[in-house]
Order: sequence, then C-alpha cells, then structure tokens
Amino acid sequence: MLSDDLQRIFQGQAGICASFGSRFYAALAGRIAEDIAELGCLFTPWEGDDYAALIAAAVSLRFLGSLHDLALSGDDLAVTAAFPPAGDDADAAWEAAKAAIARDPARFQAFMAHEPQTNEVRRSACLLPGFLTVAAETKLPLACLELGASAGLNQLWPRYAYDYGEAGRWGDAAAPLTLAADWTGPPAPWGADVCVVSTAACDRKPMILADPLQRRRLKAYLWPDQTERMERFDAAATMALAAGVTVEAADAADWAKARAAPRDGVATCVYHSIFWQYLSAATQGALEAAIAGHGAAATEAAPLAWLRMEPVAGQPFPIELRLTLWPGGEDRLLATVHAHGAAVEWAPPAP
Ligand SMILES: C[S@@+](CC[C@H](N)C(=O)[O-])C[C@H]1O[C@@H](n2cnc3c(N)ncnc32)[C@H](O)[C@@H]1O
Repeated sequence: MLSDDLQRIFQGQAGICASFGSRFYAALAGRIAEDIAELGCLFTPWEGDDYAALIAAAVSLRFLGSLHDLALSGDDLAVTAAFPPAGDDADAAWEAAKAAIARDPARFQAFMAHEPQTNEVRRSACLLPGFLTVAAETKLPLACLELGASAGLNQLWPRYAYDYGEAGRWGDAAAPLTLAADWTGPPAPWGADVCVVSTAACDRKPMILADPLQRRRLKAYLWPDQTERMERFDAAATMALAAGVTVEAADAADWAKARAAPRDGVATCVYHSIFWQYLSAATQGALEAAIAGHGAAATEAAPLAWLRMEPVAGQPFPIELRLTLWPGGEDRLLATVHAHGAAVEWAPPAP
C-alpha cells in the first residue's frame, strides 16, 4: 500500500539524513513518516508504484525540497522561522508546513512534479580522479560531455581546487572554490597531464542560475542545516554565471547519439552523476546503445570514455564511480563514493 511504502521511505530518509549529518531533516522526515496518511493527495502521481519505483523517483527528496522551497521563499513566515538558518525546530516546521499544505496543496504538487535537480558541486571531487584516469591512460586532451547536468556546475570541474588531505591536492590553489573530500586507498594519477579542449552539457530541463526562482529551487534541494553545501553552491553558481556555463535542453539519449562520436586527437569523455535512476528503461537502453555504438567506432587516436557516478541498480547506496574506456570497452569500478561528494574510496591500481 502506498502510504505504508511512503512511511518506510520517510523513515529511511530520516536515517539517511541523520547519517549525513542533517539533524533537522532527520527530525522532519521522521515527523512526516508519522503523519504520512494525512498527505495522500500529494503522492497520487505515484499510486500503483511499488517501493523500488518510489525510491527511484526520490519522492522523499521531492517533498522535502518543496518544503524547503517554501521556507526559502518567505511566503509563509512560520515555515521560514522554523527552518534553518532562522530556526531549527522540526516540530514547529512540520506543523506550519501541514497548515500551508492544507491551504495550497497545488503549490507542493507542482514542485514535486519534476524529479530532484540537486546540482551538487562537490560531486566533482568524486569525478575528478576519473577524469585524471582518462587523461593518464589516453594521454590526450579531453572533450567533456555531461548528461543530466541540471545547472551545469560540474562542468566547471577543471576550475575548482581539490583538497583530499594528505592523499593529494589538485587544481589552482587560488581558485574561488576548494572542494574538500576524504580519500582512502592508493593514490589517483594526480600528476596526469590534463587539458580540457571543450565542455558541453545537456539536461531534459536545464536549470537557469540567472532566474531567481530556478536558483531558489536548486537551493531548495540542499538540506537546510548543511550550510557548507549552501556556501559551495553559491560560490559555484557565481563562477558558473561569470563563466557563462550553459546546459542544452535535450534528452540525454538523443544528445549522446548526436554529440558523442569519438574524434581524432581528443578523448571524448561522456559523464554523469546521480542521473541514471531518473531515466525510463527505454531511455537507459537507448543511451547505452548510443554510447556503445560510439565506443565501437573508437580508436587509440579517438578514444571514448564513459564515466559515471551512480548508485548500484535499484538502491540509493552504495554509489560507484565506474569507467568504460574504448577501444577495449572494459567496465571498471574506480571508486565507491559519498552521495554528496564528501568521500572517495579509491579502488584501482590503474591497469
Ligand atoms: C539529481 S539531478 C543531478 C544533477 C547533476 N548531475 C549533479 O550530480 O549535480 C538529475 C538530473 O537529470 C536530469 N534528467 C533526468 N532525465 C533526463 C533525460 N532523459 N535527459 C537529460 N536529463 C535528464 C534531471 O532533469 C536532473 O536535472
């Protein structure tokens, strides 16, 4: 039954938020789980879906995002006052949110209609060692193509500085944003010669940072008591606006088919993070076929890399960084990583 599955999902979300250090969201998700039967009208689009489909659709993050968006908007003073940074009272937040939902459920339904578009810039700290691996193994400049890029913050990966503690540092130490992550395992190829000759990205619904409502929506997907994530987002958004980052509106399978053909003299690198679960099975198949088709045409002089940071099928965790590099086309696990980029457990010695 939908409400039983939703209750389990919000209880699980409370545990995830607690383990990720968000005390406020852990408490709020726990309160939502208790009252889930009162919220039926918000979840009617998922009637008939099983537990796995609800997890894949990230319904809990959709709903939490809709509440945080209301808090950020200032349209409901009681909600704003209870949410961080103004407050830290999940009980008061939930009581105020329930009153707001009763007054205007359509506002929440509209927010929840699209899957989460969290653009988590610290995921670049997990993707970086993958790009370094491609550069080290192909010894070619990189042409980067990001799928499901949201606002495109992770296109700027070459411009951020990275700090993995004693394990390594990378990038320009004077960069406006340093991404710090824990590192375990052998060293990555930190010294690889990296030259990015082009970057491009697509999303089926690109988020426009210059639009205040879209920017607020992006922030709403961050967890309200995680101020460091908010600060990283603001710094990366400022960099992206200054750099003129763009994301093309396109379906990833069509775009990859049209754009990811290997080219002589560059390593074409298709990458994505926390995106695969939102594709229909048909789109997943079409995308795999498009990439494999381009892979079959790859040569040593025109290689193709497919780098992805994604959960292992059907479960939110663990999240793996995997690389397939053509010619050859062997699928390799590079690392197990934290969903928001806080840690990298590096797996390989390189072949
Ligand atoms: C959770 S966000 C992740 C954004 C970004 N990759 C990151 O890690 O910060 C998933 C993104 O995938 C996009 N998406 C979902 N289905 C897509 C499709 N068929 N083609 C292109 N983008 C898609 C969504 O619009 C959303 O912006």
